Amino acid sequence: MNILGIESSCDECAASIVSDGKNIKSSVIATQVDFHREYMGVVPEIASRKHTEWIQGVVEKSLEQSGLSLHDIDGIAVTQKPGLIGALLVGLSFAKGLSFSTGIPWVGVDHILAHLYAPCLEYDVEYPALGLLVSGGHTLIAKLDSIDAVSVLGATIDDACGEAFDKVAKFYEIGYPGGALIDKLSEKGNCEAFAFPKPWLHKGDDHEFDVSYSGLKTAVINQLDQFWDGKSEKSKENICASFQKTAVDMIIKPLKKAIQKTGITRLVTGGGVIANSYLRRCLLDLDGVTTYLPSMPLCTDNASMIAGLGYHYLKKGESFDYSETAESRVRRFRKCYP
Ligand code: KG4
Ligand code: ZN
Repeated sequence: MNILGIESSCDECAASIVSDGKNIKSSVIATQVDFHREYMGVVPEIASRKHTEWIQGVVEKSLEQSGLSLHDIDGIAVTQKPGLIGALLVGLSFAKGLSFSTGIPWVGVDHILAHLYAPCLEYDVEYPALGLLVSGGHTLIAKLDSIDAVSVLGATIDDACGEAFDKVAKFYEIGYPGGALIDKLSEKGNCEAFAFPKPWLHKGDDHEFDVSYSGLKTAVINQLDQFWDGKSEKSKENICASFQKTAVDMIIKPLKKAIQKTGITRLVTGGGVIANSYLRRCLLDLDGVTTYLPSMPLCTDNASMIAGLGYHYLKKGESFDYSETAESRVRRFRKCYP
């Protein structure tokens, strides 16, 4: 079965054709970074407008690259949630229109579940597994009984890990997008120049696998001197290396706890921050754990993961009707306090 996947939840306008949930026949990712750079962050209105301009061309290019035509497409899968609502609606409306005019069935796909499906495009993943999703909008540790039976064990109670990378990069004028640039600068830095605090939320059975990134972000931006070792240079490289090590160590600790507590030794990973070189090293070093790390283009937003997961719904004969719409938030992937 050939599935056309469409992704437009944030600032990547992407389409991909994947057959049988595994074989990537084409993947087109048109990034909008150049249009958001001067604001050092994604501007939702610009994102929606660019998606509107680009979506048709991106889908046409994905068909062309695959050597297939619309007649060969058995289903359409599109990101339905979560994300920027205007941006989501562009992809969703395009998918619905294409489905209506061709009769090809369509399904909506959850972007978070799709990130956790990304490793399945490259490995034969077995379940149950633990899932680690670290992106610009989410940070969570979950138990996966199958590709889409996910129970959240822990999540950030405030900022996402990727968001902290982006805000630190913005404050220190490191560039945009921030995560990959911090990763690069960290290579030349001393990760012990600053001993940033690591909040540990665990109280009794509460918050056992939760994390919090807003305190770290504040410490790096507003309280640098307080955590300085008093001798290293206060260079961007040293700030980046110390921040990156703290941000990654903070998620590795509850992850190790979840592995120990559940006894599950398979780990699927996904999301843009999984591209981080230090995080990848830590994940590969986990003792006795089989870690499925997606290759770089499958960590960040792409449409292959959408087509891949959508295939499993369409194969079962599922299809959505045209009254379905986009949702910006998915409550179960977010912690709500109190
Ligand atoms: O999964 P993604 O493309 O979009 C969301 O669903 O959020 O993730 C984007 C996030 C951004 O915060 C970006 O800074 C971060 O992933 N990122 C990285 C790296 N590459 C991308 N963070 C740390 N190190 C990297 N190498
Ligand atoms: Zn994403």
